[in-house]
Amino acid sequence: MFHQPLFTLYLFLQFQVFIFLTNRLAFHPRFRVFETGWTLSWTSFTLAVQTTLTVFLGRSWDFSPSDWVAIPAGWKLLTAALALSVIGYWTEFLFWLLFVKKPVQSRLLSSQLVKLPPRFRPPLEFLKYLGFENQIYQPEVNEYEVFLPHWPKEFSGLSIVQISDIHYGKYINLDYLGILVAVAQKLKPDLFVLTGDFISFQKHIPAMEGLFKKLKAPLGVYALLGNHDYWSDGEGMRKALEEDHIRVLRNDVAMIKRKGKTLALMGVDDLWEGTKNEAPLLNAKGDAKILLAHHPDHFYLAKKTKAHLQISGHCHGGQICFPLWGPLIIPSTKGRKYVEGFVREGDTTLFAHRGIGGYPPIRTYCRPEIVKLILRS
Ligand SMILES: [Fe+2]
Repeated sequence: MFHQPLFTLYLFLQFQVFIFLTNRLAFHPRFRVFETGWTLSWTSFTLAVQTTLTVFLGRSWDFSPSDWVAIPAGWKLLTAALALSVIGYWTEFLFWLLFVKKPVQSRLLSSQLVKLPPRFRPPLEFLKYLGFENQIYQPEVNEYEVFLPHWPKEFSGLSIVQISDIHYGKYINLDYLGILVAVAQKLKPDLFVLTGDFISFQKHIPAMEGLFKKLKAPLGVYALLGNHDYWSDGEGMRKALEEDHIRVLRNDVAMIKRKGKTLALMGVDDLWEGTKNEAPLLNAKGDAKILLAHHPDHFYLAKKTKAHLQISGHCHGGQICFPLWGPLIIPSTKGRKYVEGFVREGDTTLFAHRGIGGYPPIRTYCRPEIVKLILRS
């Protein structure tokens, strides 16, 4: 069967199904200790099922067109279902790409690597010899200018620096974060937003004490909690942030005035683990509206609240990516649609940040980032 072109096509379809499933790993057991194991078991289980099916199918069919007629109806149905599901997936994605997704007018003004002292050496450093350099210590500072439909001219030029998905730990420690916070402060934005997943373990909350106090911006510093904060200790993390004079938005709106106009900065609680209460956000009034949401899958709410912009984190840009193939694991029901960068649907724009850390602290073909957004009308 290995010499049959149909076998190559079959393997390609199975590969598509594998990517489709692992790119939608949007459900997790509640306890973070199982997360890595859960992810690995999900990917290996999918592969094992696909391989077993292929081995058994290979016993009935040698993948030549003439032999197809004789194979049992069950195998015919299964093979047809495989082909149809891949066609369905691509049809849905192409429909979104062509008819739902709108062009975003954005410009990368600058992209610079943060220079770190040589004491910062990533875990699994040897991966670089295999072509998979661990980029966990290669943070970029990316500055974008983005033009938002109907954005009030009074808020044109407003700058926001976003830090997301720190996942404090052995490698993403105080020493390293101190450097990043200083870099972020040098960007002098009008406001800072920290979009969740500060910790993966409760024990790290005290270690971060005072870290974010150094962030100062004329319009304030705002934060959200992410699923990992809740899995570790959401209440403890909230208190720690508030002690650093950071306002934590949980289904809450901060009203910011500028030149007689109001910006409603809405913060929704985490999609997976937070409290669902959309009313305060749906009732928010403002000339300009921004939704802060840890999870990009909250984009439906940004559109419902008629926000000009949603700012999110969570997916880490895929975190572990492969050349040509892209990300393996994406914790979103939308697959690759909102994995990173800008997306516009209707008049609402989404920006998904790649994050700083990761759990585990490995990033390939997906550098960490600090982002400055300059909003223009
Ligand atoms: Fe998250």
